[in-house]
Amino acid sequence: MASTVTYLLTRADVQKALSMADAVRAVEAAFVAYGEGRAQMPPKSYLRFERGDLRCMPAYLADVGLAAVKNVNVHPLNEELPTVMATVTVFDPDTGFPLAIMDGTYLTAMRTGAAGGIAAKYLARRDSAVACFVGAGRQAATQLAALMTTMPNIRKVLACDVDADRAEAFARGSAATYNVEASAAPLADAVSAADIVTTLTPVREPLIMKDYVRPGTHINAIGADAPGKQELESAILQAAKVVVDNWEQAAHGGEINVAVSQGLIARDDIHAEIGEVVTGKRPGRQSPDEITVFDSTGLAIQDVACAAHVYRRLTSDAHARASLQTVDFLAGD
Ligand SMILES: NC(=O)c1ccc[n+]([C@@H]2O[C@H](COP(=O)([O-])OP(=O)(O)OC[C@H]3O[C@@H](n4cnc5c(N)ncnc54)[C@H](O)[C@@H]3O)[C@@H](O)[C@H]2O)c1
Repeated sequence: MASTVTYLLTRADVQKALSMADAVRAVEAAFVAYGEGRAQMPPKSYLRFERGDLRCMPAYLADVGLAAVKNVNVHPLNEELPTVMATVTVFDPDTGFPLAIMDGTYLTAMRTGAAGGIAAKYLARRDSAVACFVGAGRQAATQLAALMTTMPNIRKVLACDVDADRAEAFARGSAATYNVEASAAPLADAVSAADIVTTLTPVREPLIMKDYVRPGTHINAIGADAPGKQELESAILQAAKVVVDNWEQAAHGGEINVAVSQGLIARDDIHAEIGEVVTGKRPGRQSPDEITVFDSTGLAIQDVACAAHVYRRLTSDAHARASLQTVDFLAGD
């Protein structure tokens, strides 16, 4: 019988059900499904406000038998509230019934981290030991958690942020959680010392210059996810092997969007989409000296994959189900 129960899942529920290892597994499987043409994912659509925007991100993964729509904002001027907040509604593809509405903020950070970890697995040098984080805000912790899951040789963390207290706090937290050497460091020095650089700022003027970047470095460019945003000098993109999560999204609002709109790079200059790399259709890193860039805009399939994992994990046994909040949308007069 088709389910007519809608679960309301809080952040605590999602946290309980989704570890970083779970998120990496779910997102990698989603990238494979996408690379092999088994995912439906229309482009995300944007509502623009004076102080931010709201994005609607639908996708269907036949492999997990569920569809979902995430609604997520980006409001960089928020002070009390986070920059990014999200809810995910999970649907039964057979009936269209909403099976769950869950907090998507933690899920967004987890699936974004997972994508960075997976990209590093295919594109960074296997012996990568030093990870630099540019922007020590909310997404940074899950990017680190994912690298610690997929890159077994990370020994040192360098943190950079215009807000020196945030960089210090991130370094302290990294050292305490993962038993790695960690410190705040000046941007150019930290990038030059790193094997993997993760950029996580909302800037619109590049802050990573080509001469900071050593041969052999892998860069996860995460922060640019809307038109006009750019963290890397375009010369880096012109010199590097660039892998995007999705060409249309990346050209519209990812790290490459400004360089594409200025005619500095074109589709032919992009090495691959991540789905092509994880399925082996296109190679990942091919030499220890190449500079690689993963341009992450965030795909709706990442959200569906993680939301489906959470839904199944929390509702698979009667005992766990009994403690969850539900709402009866069909109740009426
Ligand atoms: N690609 C994706 O899938 C994805 C997902 C979520 C968020 N994002 C983007 O990632 C970015 C970071 O998100 P967040 O939630 O961590 O935001 P946040 O506001 O919590 O953190 C951003 C950090 O960047 C720092 N910063 C700003 N300008 C800087 C500069 N010039 N130099 C160094 N540090 C600087 C800020 O001080 C802050 O600590 C945003 O642009 C967001 O839109 C992308």
